[in-house]
Amino acid sequence: MGTTLAPRMSKFSGSPTSALIAKVAELKRQGKDIISLNVGEPDFGTPDYIKVAGMKAIADNFTKYTSGNGILELREEIIKKLKEDNHVEYSVNEITTAVGAKQAIASSMMVIAGPGDEVLLPIPCWVSYTEMIRLAGATPVFVPVRPDNYELDLDAIKAAITSRTKAIIICTPNNPTGAVYSEESLRKLADLALAHDFFIVADEIYEKLIYDDAKHFSVASISKEVRDLTITINGFSKAYAMTGWRIGYAAARADVIKGIMAVQSQTTSATSAISQKAAVAALRGSQHDLTIMVEEFKRRKDYVILRLNQIPGITCPSVKGAFYVYPDVQAYLGKSFGARKIATAVDLCQYLLDEALISTVPGEAYNVPGKIRISYSNSLENLEQALDRFEKALASLS
Ligand SMILES: Cc1ncc(COP(=O)(O)O)c(C=O)c1O
Repeated sequence: MGTTLAPRMSKFSGSPTSALIAKVAELKRQGKDIISLNVGEPDFGTPDYIKVAGMKAIADNFTKYTSGNGILELREEIIKKLKEDNHVEYSVNEITTAVGAKQAIASSMMVIAGPGDEVLLPIPCWVSYTEMIRLAGATPVFVPVRPDNYELDLDAIKAAITSRTKAIIICTPNNPTGAVYSEESLRKLADLALAHDFFIVADEIYEKLIYDDAKHFSVASISKEVRDLTITINGFSKAYAMTGWRIGYAAARADVIKGIMAVQSQTTSATSAISQKAAVAALRGSQHDLTIMVEEFKRRKDYVILRLNQIPGITCPSVKGAFYVYPDVQAYLGKSFGARKIATAVDLCQYLLDEALISTVPGEAYNVPGKIRISYSNSLENLEQALDRFEKALASLS
């Protein structure tokens, strides 16, 4: 009653990774030599040609509201990209831009799910999906991925389907595990979605950050039927180091996109006009900066996985995407540092922050304890030092 908060807030919480970022920034401000392994954005600058396009948009006074789904020029470039890279065809009324992929997913949830509906979430999963589902009034249903390689577990997904299943949200390449789902898994998932008539929300934001022999496969490319039950989410944050520009997009059936636009038109109007012009440049320009970034991430990934697996008790699958690894740290849970007991991954991450000055994210944030997420979006030099500290801190536990 009165000035109490809305009941939905009792079930809703802010992003733990954003809170951690703020805490690490505060510690650094206090002069602590923290090495950040919790970063969710590329440690590269936005490529110059994209920045120039943004500056030109400002100089040209391209600084006003745009249509809710974004400028036609950008939607046409996105259509071209989806056709060439992902082998899926869309028309201009099947695309909307958004204030980041994040808003595109949140708006999608508002459009397709509500009270009484269940949305399947393979876990570990990105921190925001759960709360987006809850904000829409629906219920998240957690389905573990395979523990050995973090691939989708199709049997577990099948077992979790009920008459209330409205959608599944998948993320490939994956945050937090770095796994890239195989075409075979995605085809089997599509068969389940067709048979049981539910949506697939395919978050492909890390699509371009893929290494070795791994290949990204877009589930929407399987057939027209699968395309029509898929909402493909993507954006510019990770591939073009544009996290602060806040621009992403959704591609789906026209009625779904119309719904997403309605939600956005009443909440944000549209994303920044300047960012839209910059995004056009990002897609049209040479992809050279991206190639350089991917080569560097691959070098770091190889190093981090090698080092982690050399530490007694730590196992880390050889994943091939995004800029995260998700090693198992259970061998160290139950140990102590003096009087300090390390019972959970949360305790371990706190210990690593206090004693080793490295910031990692506990698996609890992604709904799977016993693991931690390590981001290799940091220089190789810093990663070397951070892993030395990590190894030493673990060896100090008894
Ligand atoms: C899995 C996943 N999806 C979406 C996003 C959000 O991307 P954007 O910056 O485009 O909102 C992130 C960002 O961390 C992410 O990890």
